Amino acid sequence: MFPFHRPRRLRKTEGIRRMVRETILRVDDLIYPMFVTHGKGVKKPISSMPGCFQESVDEIVKSVREIVSLNIPAIILFGIPEEKDEIGSGAFDPHGVVQDAIKAIKDATPELTVITDVCMCEYTSHGHCGIVKDGEVLNDPTLELLQKEAVSHARAGADMVAPSDMMDGRVQAIRDALDSEGFTDIPIMSYAAKYASAFYGPFREAAESAPQFGDRRSYQMDPPNRREALKEVALDIEEGADIVMVKPALSYLDIISDVKEAFDVPVAAYNVSGEYSLVKAAAEMGWIDHDRVMMEVLTSIKRAGADMILTYFAPEAARLLQS
Ligand code: PBG
Repeated sequence: MFPFHRPRRLRKTEGIRRMVRETILRVDDLIYPMFVTHGKGVKKPISSMPGCFQESVDEIVKSVREIVSLNIPAIILFGIPEEKDEIGSGAFDPHGVVQDAIKAIKDATPELTVITDVCMCEYTSHGHCGIVKDGEVLNDPTLELLQKEAVSHARAGADMVAPSDMMDGRVQAIRDALDSEGFTDIPIMSYAAKYASAFYGPFREAAESAPQFGDRRSYQMDPPNRREALKEVALDIEEGADIVMVKPALSYLDIISDVKEAFDVPVAAYNVSGEYSLVKAAAEMGWIDHDRVMMEVLTSIKRAGADMILTYFAPEAARLLQS
């Protein structure tokens, strides 16, 4: 009888669909990015990222309790310092915003894994991810600052550090610095294949980190490149990265898939600000079903090969997954 094969048989009921489902998104897959700012009692909405806030330390402590109650295992912290300077000193200030926030969060919710973003762009007056000389972002002199920043996060109690600057050699430099300060057990999640993407637009409002001149194309990857991502990831693993990240996620699902195939380390993917804001905006216009699109987006990132997903949707997705 024609047709002999009927794939629709396995789609007939929700019960059968559940049995043959290949990708299951779990709350354990989610990492929630949070923005800590100076001051007290501050909880300032980020207009281009509905549902996200810049929060002072006292406020973020309240918010992380909610994250823990939703069973989300980890957050990644970004800091907005009171003052910025040429070399981003706020990044390694023992009493900087991130350092203070780590301590307060670990005191309040020790079970929550605190990852920190290690980068200079939120702390430098020019907004670039490293030291600038004559309009150029210098690689090797920046490494020393990143080392100091990573060590100061570890000293404050961070569970993991995540360098996002895209300087060459930074994973090894950070590994060396952590080890020589006794932090041999702090893992490094490297933003290994990070592209110079326009999808970071809303984040730059959130972190007040837009470059004041030029762009990041001399250090972040060129979006058309695929093979080069494998090279970046291989180098980071060689240098000691424990987890490698692909960023952004949605326009780079092929890269996630390639990295997953080629390497045996956990792969993270960053569902970035622009990807989040697009969904929020379309949902606000009534053009899409917010929750279904959100879950489809996150599931697609996992299906491509991500073992974990950094996403601003984490609380909403966690709520849905556990309802
Ligand atoms: C800092 C950093 C950026 C993001 C994470 N870490 C911005 C950038 O490189 O310009 C982007 C995150 C997002 O868009 O959600 N270097």
